[in-house]
Amino acid sequence: MVNDNRITLAVTGASGWPYALSLLQTLVKQQQQVFLLISDAAREVVRLETGQALPTQQQDCQAYLRHYCQDNTGLIQLLNNHDWLSCVASGSGAPRRMVICPCSMGTLAAVACGLSNNLIERAADVAIKEHHSLIIVPREMPLSVLHLENMLKLARLGVVVMPASPAFYHQPQSIQDVVDFVVERILKHLGLQGTLTAWGV
Ligand SMILES: Cc1cc2nc3c(=O)[nH]c(=O)nc-3n(C[C@H](O)[C@H](O)[C@H](O)COP(=O)(O)O)c2cc1C
Repeated sequence: MVNDNRITLAVTGASGWPYALSLLQTLVKQQQQVFLLISDAAREVVRLETGQALPTQQQDCQAYLRHYCQDNTGLIQLLNNHDWLSCVASGSGAPRRMVICPCSMGTLAAVACGLSNNLIERAADVAIKEHHSLIIVPREMPLSVLHLENMLKLARLGVVVMPASPAFYHQPQSIQDVVDFVVERILKHLGLQGTLTAWGV
């Protein structure tokens, strides 16, 4: 368990905003300080998955998410994707835990190659070089050889690759139950307590 309540959460343009939102809510509930990054493609996915666009202005979007997650103490800090001076871009300042959820195959490939073309990729690059805990939650089907090779490359570097693959043995009664199964698995790997499912995966 890491003695640091800071975490970087990057949301990219793979399908699965409900995973990100549930994870964000739970992290806030557990008093984690979240440095949040949302890619442009993720915003497009959110719009299609929820029928509602996230506010485009950074401050408005941050306020919206804080309100949604009942974050009354400002635990969520939404970062600009090109804020190279942000702590997540620096080896000495970055939180020691990062999750990319959901992770698109595009970001997966960029991270596997160390591109660092935006703040999400840079933060992941920092996490790998500093041997921090990095969890990625890819979602795509089917997976090509390229996707699999990129995942293998990252797994060999110590990145935890946790595809969004919900199980059904906890007899989910709702979509939220299915989502929570995946989120609970991520929480476990972050060293945090899961409270979302009775199964306690
Ligand atoms: C509605 C929608 C759903 C998408 N779902 C996926 C997906 O599940 N997995 C994936 O790898 N890419 C998916 N994409 C494509 C990515 O969004 C696209 O490759 C984008 O360039 C990723 O950029 P990012 O990694 O910077 O977020 C989806 C795109 C849209 C518009």
